[in-house]
Amino acid sequence: MTGPVLATLVTVTVCVPDAKTTSPTRYCNGFPRILTQVHRSLKFRIQLIRKMEVLLPKLPSFKFSSPICCCSISTRSSSYVKFGFRRFSSLSVCASTVNEAVAEPSLGSPSLGHTTRPHFPILHQEVNGSKLVYLDNAATSQKPTVVLKTLQSYYEAYNSNVHRGIHFLRQVYAKATDQYEAARRKVASFINASDSSEIVFTRNATEAINLVAYSWGLSNLKRDDEIILTVAEHHSAIVPWQLLAQKVGAVLKFVNLNQYEIPDMDKLKELLSRKTKLVVVHHVSNVLASVLPVRDIANWAHDVGAKVLVDACQSVPHMTVDVHSLNVDFLVASSHKMCGPTGVGFLYGKIDLLSSMPPFLGGGEMISDVFLDHSTYAEPPSRFEAGTPAIGEAIGLGAAIDYLSGIGMQTIHDYEVT
Ligand SMILES: Cc1ncc(COP(=O)(O)O)c(C=O)c1O
Repeated sequence: MTGPVLATLVTVTVCVPDAKTTSPTRYCNGFPRILTQVHRSLKFRIQLIRKMEVLLPKLPSFKFSSPICCCSISTRSSSYVKFGFRRFSSLSVCASTVNEAVAEPSLGSPSLGHTTRPHFPILHQEVNGSKLVYLDNAATSQKPTVVLKTLQSYYEAYNSNVHRGIHFLRQVYAKATDQYEAARRKVASFINASDSSEIVFTRNATEAINLVAYSWGLSNLKRDDEIILTVAEHHSAIVPWQLLAQKVGAVLKFVNLNQYEIPDMDKLKELLSRKTKLVVVHHVSNVLASVLPVRDIANWAHDVGAKVLVDACQSVPHMTVDVHSLNVDFLVASSHKMCGPTGVGFLYGKIDLLSSMPPFLGGGEMISDVFLDHSTYAEPPSRFEAGTPAIGEAIGLGAAIDYLSGIGMQTIHDYEVT
């Protein structure tokens, strides 16, 4: 069974109106929308170009230079080069602007896009006398004021290291630790993890995947063990497994696309066997807009004794993600794609798995005791957080989660797919 393909055509976001506008036009949205990184298929791109040709010229100052603009929505994934997609370094539409005067919506109540647009200061600037359009949310989202203020407040008022440093700023130190751990609890509750100890802060999703590859992978995989992935995975979910496979002699097996140009779930089922030790899949694809049936995949994988790692970079910011009901073993995401700061992401891992895993990086924070010839290690999550973490950024991620939760993930999802 294959999950639905999200309606990405309507997700091309043109940010136009101001808070003062009272009614929507469907093509004007300020909120970071799902899956604007839409190298989906040639057919899709043609549809997209047509759609943009219809919508964008209605805005007088919008310069639709050529269809190639639409194709240039940036992606760092080249998995699709072999399907004929060209790679572009930037999205020229992103920097385009629209004229506010024509963007006044005329009917109905304000859309989520209209009500949230004022929250994003970067969208308030004018370029060549017109308002900024930002379309590249799948690559990184813009940050609402509440996140920017949280970062500023951390650095201005209570910047301190965490879990250590008994000094005269004791209260400041305690506040940084409290807020950092509160952010971890917010992440846990946002994805319905059992406990905050199942959340490891990393630099980004890429580092989270590498953590699993080097820690869990190196100690659990051996020659001829198999890892199943889809051809639609992001580089960050392919390359770490290539590196691991080269080290231990494991084999990567790829699920191709079916006739609907989404990963073929029948093929995935066929590939599963007792040799399979890990299945690595995206939840929502940054290139195809497909939504994979992660709960089914986890059940199929568990039936043959394999673990499942889900790349949730493009789902966590846009829909309710519940690790309990999905029953996945590992899940990763990046803060900067969910209205939070760069420099921080997270790994969710079932606690029994995390507890059984050796450290990834060595250093301060991750140890229990250090002797000259050996060390003992802290329990998760500290075991995997060597060195000083991105404290302010993690706290900022907590503020982003508050922001998204305040709107409601179901509201966001409904808005983005209709
Ligand atoms: C689906 C998906 N996975 C992983 C990543 C990697 O995220 P990061 O660069 O924040 O580690 C991205 C980034 O575009 C992505 O879209």
